[in-house]
Amino acid sequence: MKEILEKLEARRAKARLGGGEARIAAQHKRGKLTARERLALLLDRDSFEEFDMFVEHRCTEFGMDKQPKIPGDGVVTGWGTVNGRTVFVFAKDFTVFGGSLSETHAIKITKIQDMAMKARAPIIGLFDAGGARIQEGVAALGGYGDVFKRNVLASGVIPQISVIMGPCAGGDVYSPAMTDFIFMVRDTSYMFVTGPDVVKTVTNEVVTAEELGGALVHTTKSAVADGAYDNDVECLLQMRRLIDFLPSNCTSGVPEWPSFDDVEREDESLDTLVPDNPNKPYDIKELILKVADEGDFFEISETFARNIVVGFGRIGGRTVGFVANQPMVLAGVLDADASRKAARFVRFCDAFNIPIVTFVDVPGFLPGTAQEYGGLIKHGAKLLFAYSQATVPLVTVITRKAFGGAYDVMASKHVGGDVNYAWPTAQIAVMGAKGAVEIIFRQDIGDPQKIAARTREYEERFLSPFVAAERGYIDEVIMPRTTRRRIARALAMLRNKTVELPPRKHDNLPL
Ligand code: HXC
Repeated sequence: MKEILEKLEARRAKARLGGGEARIAAQHKRGKLTARERLALLLDRDSFEEFDMFVEHRCTEFGMDKQPKIPGDGVVTGWGTVNGRTVFVFAKDFTVFGGSLSETHAIKITKIQDMAMKARAPIIGLFDAGGARIQEGVAALGGYGDVFKRNVLASGVIPQISVIMGPCAGGDVYSPAMTDFIFMVRDTSYMFVTGPDVVKTVTNEVVTAEELGGALVHTTKSAVADGAYDNDVECLLQMRRLIDFLPSNCTSGVPEWPSFDDVEREDESLDTLVPDNPNKPYDIKELILKVADEGDFFEISETFARNIVVGFGRIGGRTVGFVANQPMVLAGVLDADASRKAARFVRFCDAFNIPIVTFVDVPGFLPGTAQEYGGLIKHGAKLLFAYSQATVPLVTVITRKAFGGAYDVMASKHVGGDVNYAWPTAQIAVMGAKGAVEIIFRQDIGDPQKIAARTREYEERFLSPFVAAERGYIDEVIMPRTTRRRIARALAMLRNKTVELPPRKHDNLPL
């Protein structure tokens, strides 16, 4: 018996070595951890339950039958817990055929996807892999197809998170692209459909891996990734933090953590957050941090479209999604990128029943050919559509400007806002005073005195929250210092919000 047990241990030890000591050392030399080391950091201590550690590939082409087989076949799969909550995981092992996906490797992943769906728990993929295993041809492509299909079936049912921790190509970027969030590690991870060598062959373009698909590119230009971290350890610890904010599935409701931050807490400094000069910026993140429990805010897509801020926080221990125009960047204007970024976030929150708190200070949509040619109409419509179809509690606070169509879009009463507050500094109008007067009193433009009088008149009448409040579009004008308490109370009141939507197959979001 002892001998049998020892044999098991020996087989396990061999499987745990993946591609062997030399390749593990090479992985470390590149500043990367191995698949198992990563899982140990991501999951609670000793909580990992591994599946299919002895699975081997079945390929006989290209001399694959002559090579020694490596148990596990390039991916470590199983489940564990993050702060006690179940998550399913798979981690690509770059030391085995560059983490590439074979038929059996795909079967291991789809087994975990199916289990995550049955158990209705989040799934996290750690990617460090070169796509389809070239030697396997269509068997590998078929395997990817099976993974992709499950990504889509799981979308909106369980959270799916992809962490890019090495050079990733082909299917190892397409599967992440269909999940909810993608995070990368700076300097060691890349994402491209085809790598620099193929790019050179096909287009003659010479480009480095970093320039083609590094973390900087994907978090600032393409918006493919939602965030980046300096190394594997920091990245995985931040993923643990993110998981703490997310519901396990679309019906579980948000997790509830003990909070030591009184929901009644008032913050006097908010009374002076908005500067007297309406053209002077201020940092909307200060408001988010002062409203959220313990100032804990997990920002999504921090470095892309910085004119809008989105991310998770908690109020009264329960997760909320914050969406806020950022006056510090482009005066908080809505452009195509900001609209797309916020729309995706709003849809995630709605899919997983996370209430949304919106802070509004927006001078409108960004005018100009660059925006119009870039499809601002369609991208802006995405955000309008996302808010309009949301059935989660929507609490909105207008801090300053809410001009034009952007007023409607930003979770106004008209598109479904449940509780809409304004600070006394709010200005709710079709546009700012200067633009408005120059259009409606064009005949007076040559007379500065008349224009000044008209501008004053417009400012007094329209640049306040009261015209909207008189119509009931704003439920109440609140003292800025009480914002946290007012939002907390509104969210508590809305906890059992129920909305009936007309029956349909699905909507047709402007893509
Ligand atoms: C088989 C692979 C492999 C692959 C890497 N390896 N990718 N083996 N199939 N797809 C092997 C290498 O041969 C090498 O083995 C080891 O993994 C490490 O790879 P290196 O090239 O030495 O590492 P590095 O220089 O860091 O480059 C990593 C890489 C590069 C950028 C991922 O390997 C690469 O470009 N691979 C091919 C990517 C690709 O085109 N994949 C197919 C995509 S199509 P040895 O034994 O020499 O150490 C696809 C279809 C899906 O995925 C459908 C999408 C819709």
